[in-house]
Amino acid sequence: MILDNEKYTKVRGAQAQGARTVKEVKDMTGINIENDQELREIEAVVQNVCRCQNVSVNEVVSAVKNGADTMEKVMEETKAGTGCGRCKGIIANIIENKR
Ligand code: FES
Repeated sequence: MILDNEKYTKVRGAQAQGARTVKEVKDMTGINIENDQELREIEAVVQNVCRCQNVSVNEVVSAVKNGADTMEKVMEETKAGTGCGRCKGIIANIIENKR
């Protein structure tokens, strides 16, 4: 991964504020994407919620739309959030926005 820690943290922060696309991340953070590899890495991060358990945004959104309306239910159903816990802000935002 060439994405530096500062940019990675900004992408994760934007996701926790509701960003679900690279454009939304860029608009929210103002980060400068320097090359195609960095773009691909940011695209991959944006599609993922939980790195510990490798759970995608789509999986969490599906679980929420199917009734998992609390952190505990999402964790039980998808395993997202059951490792380091740093993705819980993103999970909470998905529960709130259902997207
Ligand atoms: S990134 Fe989800 S538990 Fe660590």
